[in-house]
Amino acid sequence: MTDTRVVVVGAGPAGMLLSHLLDAAGIDNVVLERQSQAHVLGRIRAGVLEWGTVETLRAAGLGDRMDAEGHVHDTINIAWRGEEVLGINTHDLVGTRMMAYGQTRIQEDLFAAASDRGAEVIFEADDVALHDLDSDGPCVTYGGGERITCDFVAGCDGFHGVSRVSIPYGIRTEYEKVYPFGWLGILSETPPLSNLLYANHERGFALCSMRNPMLSRYYVQAPITDTVDDWSDDRFWTELFARLPVSQSEHIVTGPSIEKSLAPLRSYVCEPMRWGRLLLAGDAAHIVPPTGAKGLNLAVSDVRYLARAIATHYAGDDTYLDRYSSMALRRVWGSVRFSWWMTNLLHRFPDQTEFDQRAQEQELAYLASSVHAQRAMAEQYVGLPYE
Ligand code: FAD
Ligand code: DHB
Repeated sequence: MTDTRVVVVGAGPAGMLLSHLLDAAGIDNVVLERQSQAHVLGRIRAGVLEWGTVETLRAAGLGDRMDAEGHVHDTINIAWRGEEVLGINTHDLVGTRMMAYGQTRIQEDLFAAASDRGAEVIFEADDVALHDLDSDGPCVTYGGGERITCDFVAGCDGFHGVSRVSIPYGIRTEYEKVYPFGWLGILSETPPLSNLLYANHERGFALCSMRNPMLSRYYVQAPITDTVDDWSDDRFWTELFARLPVSQSEHIVTGPSIEKSLAPLRSYVCEPMRWGRLLLAGDAAHIVPPTGAKGLNLAVSDVRYLARAIATHYAGDDTYLDRYSSMALRRVWGSVRFSWWMTNLLHRFPDQTEFDQRAQEQELAYLASSVHAQRAMAEQYVGLPYE
């Protein structure tokens, strides 16, 4: 039997950043991860960081490689009606830029920092179960009878983890919207477009994103019933080009995909994010469709509040701990609403009527014609302020 102050369940970005911040504050913690380290590092996910995320990583001493290899950019392009392209320059509109730096790199940086400080991260921990969360002495069991007692359990175990479902039904409320399509994404070792490009097209949504000067990430909206085997590289490139204005696609360099995946789109929030000694952070508590590039940023945002709440608890003040759920949820709902809005603005829905279609076109036309609308979009895209 081991004893620690905080058991962190999940070694994704939320769990590893929390462990890093707790160690920096001198608070003992153990991370339990169901998968191997190689598996966690192999997942290709988010790519765009809000400036608040960049600053949080820098303040934690995790910014060196991001600053050296990440790509700072200030414009997102939005294409629609096949040819029009609207540039949203977030720096001109709201004074803030973004950083392209993949989640895979952040995950590598977090594991390297954990190894440097000798953090206790247990991989391939099977059958993690949480106990006595509504008492002052919770504990976590795993594997063949291992047991850790602690003061707090941080549930950072993603959407399919055990933490959220440990909150009894009568206490947790769930809000959910499932979208009737997915995103088929590829990585290719080719130079990306110089700016992010989101496209609304009658054949469906498309997105051109980046990881580094020789690594591009592209997505097309696809039926959720498809599989990656339905999408040869040729079919993917043909479909992507069909959805983009020629003024943009003529700059795209194609090549073999080195990764291909199909992700479902969902909006989901669990309230509250705290129950007794259990505190949820990241995808364990909420999911956003990737359209607003918010999932990873929200995980960092929760952890920022959570690390402060735990550190001030040990300094004798529970104000932030008691307010953790409500503070985190304010930013969560801001991003959930924005991601839902961007998803509605840019996708073709299978049951879209002529009316819906015209309303969507009008919204894009309004965005193109109004600097106020552009500023509102830019303000939310780069991330609302922290409390
Ligand atoms: P996760 O990264 O999911 O980490 C949770 C960890 O907990 C995992 O390592 C998991 O193995 C572990 N775990 C789960 N259950 C247990 C258990 N029982 N015991 C122990 N450990 C457990 N966001 C964007 O902004 N842009 C994108 O393009 C984008 N693409 C995505 C594609 C996919 C397929 C997915 C799933 C997500 C994507 N996201 C994207 C969202 C973004 O990656 C997540 O919001 C981010 O990973 C959240 O971090 P997290 O640490 O909260 O959760
Ligand atoms: C990615 C970029 C985005 O802007 C977005 O909305 C979703 C995903 C990416 O690079 O993976």
